[in-house]
Amino acid sequence: FFSAQSFQENELRNKSVVVIDVLRATSTIVTALMNGAKGVIPVEDMGEASRISQSVDSDNYLLCGEKDGTKIDGYDLGNSPLEYSRDTVEGKTLIFNTTNGTKAIKKSLGSATIYIASFLNLSSIVNALSVEKNEIVLLCAGWKGRLALEDMLLAGNIIHNLSGGSLSDMANDGAKVAFGLYEKYGNDISSVIFQSNHAQRLKQIVGTDDLEYCAQTDICNLLPVLHEGIISI
Ligand code: MLT
Repeated sequence: FFSAQSFQENELRNKSVVVIDVLRATSTIVTALMNGAKGVIPVEDMGEASRISQSVDSDNYLLCGEKDGTKIDGYDLGNSPLEYSRDTVEGKTLIFNTTNGTKAIKKSLGSATIYIASFLNLSSIVNALSVEKNEIVLLCAGWKGRLALEDMLLAGNIIHNLSGGSLSDMANDGAKVAFGLYEKYGNDISSVIFQSNHAQRLKQIVGTDDLEYCAQTDICNLLPVLHEGIISI
């Protein structure tokens, strides 16, 4: 278990990384792929997003993302998963730029495998990890270097599932905290998400629809993986 700022370059080599940003980047990526997007290109910042968007055919690509929770001027879409309907994204490749989520994905480059996890595709992630050969890192995007409760809760849920409900003493401290959080609040995912710091921010910007949406468990059976710079299923 790592938070986005807590590891050194090369530390992820030969490990399989599960990137978690429940509110909202990984939930949005899963939704876009569920609704037929061809792929998602995660980018580091606005510069990289505009370089890529200028080099591709705009009929087939959408420029998407947010800064501090708000859609970026000139972008086709923001970061609300509810914007990513089939009508809008089917067949398109998305260039995706977010405050923490896509940066966490970029930090994972160099690892053996990068999975994209949310509550929406929880069982697919757990099933894949249960047969994973590499050491697994759950990478919680958080918010600008700070812990995010909703990411921690999903990490705890995954750890709980993989450990059969009993965590080894060898697990790292982050894993123990996430596991404990899930044991205490796992029956009430939605209210933990609603109480989180980022939920308070999002309530001011977009209301509560995104929170309700991202709190749903297993609405799809998808395993998004990053391959050669593009996330697809
Ligand atoms: C992020 O990447 O920081 C988030 O997805 C922010 C957001 O909720 O838009």
